[in-house]
Amino acid sequence: MKASVYIATSLDGFIARRNGSIDWLNDAHALVPEGEDCGFGAFMDSVDALIMGRKTYEQVLSFGQWPYGETPVVVLSHRPPGGPSHLPNTVSYSSETPKALLKRLSGLGMKHVYVDGGNTIQGFLVEALIDEITITTIPVAIGDGIPLFNPTGEDVKLTHLRTTAYDFGFVQTTYRVDKSA
Ligand SMILES: NC(=O)c1ccc[n+]([C@@H]2O[C@H](COP(=O)([O-])OP(=O)(O)OC[C@H]3O[C@@H](n4cnc5c(N)ncnc54)[C@H](OP(=O)(O)O)[C@@H]3O)[C@@H](O)[C@H]2O)c1
Repeated sequence: MKASVYIATSLDGFIARRNGSIDWLNDAHALVPEGEDCGFGAFMDSVDALIMGRKTYEQVLSFGQWPYGETPVVVLSHRPPGGPSHLPNTVSYSSETPKALLKRLSGLGMKHVYVDGGNTIQGFLVEALIDEITITTIPVAIGDGIPLFNPTGEDVKLTHLRTTAYDFGFVQTTYRVDKSA
């Protein structure tokens, strides 16, 4: 099972403001030419499922438009809501550990998952369960916010795979995580 991160950060390494706002990211999208998706469509086509933190899921719901098509989405929460809901039928909740979740999805025949949400990514990184990280750096420094990386006591060692600098100022870099470190 391969687990990948595909995320946008400010130049100073934040994925959202402290209050969860991604207004700076939405503003930056105005720079992107029509039809350019910075590889997101191809990446989505390569994944069998998304695993995302409850906070990211709530943010996605606020967009009003479901961006993940028919791809299964597992939302991690320690308090999965019970009872009937109006969730898209591709969405399920889980409180499994990262390792147990990946094992279960692998048992379903899945080979590649997309892990999203700062806290959630960190939980997978700590257990050395992330294989590849693609960071799209947005040309703005926001000074404070929710960091992509937090101190974990262990360095995350990476091998650079490729970088694309877009004319409109985004810089996208993909790294392989060195899991033997
Ligand atoms: N810049 C970007 O490209 C980008 C991408 C994604 C997200 N974001 C932004 O990042 C913010 C959210 O990131 P975040 O770090 O605050 O939160 P997050 O990772 O989206 O969600 C954290 C929550 O996920 C649940 N969770 C995580 N691991 C779990 C586990 N192993 N078992 C059970 N529950 C688990 C917990 O939910 P409970 O509290 O319910 O237990 C936890 O509070 C949002 O503002 C979003 O817009 C930005």
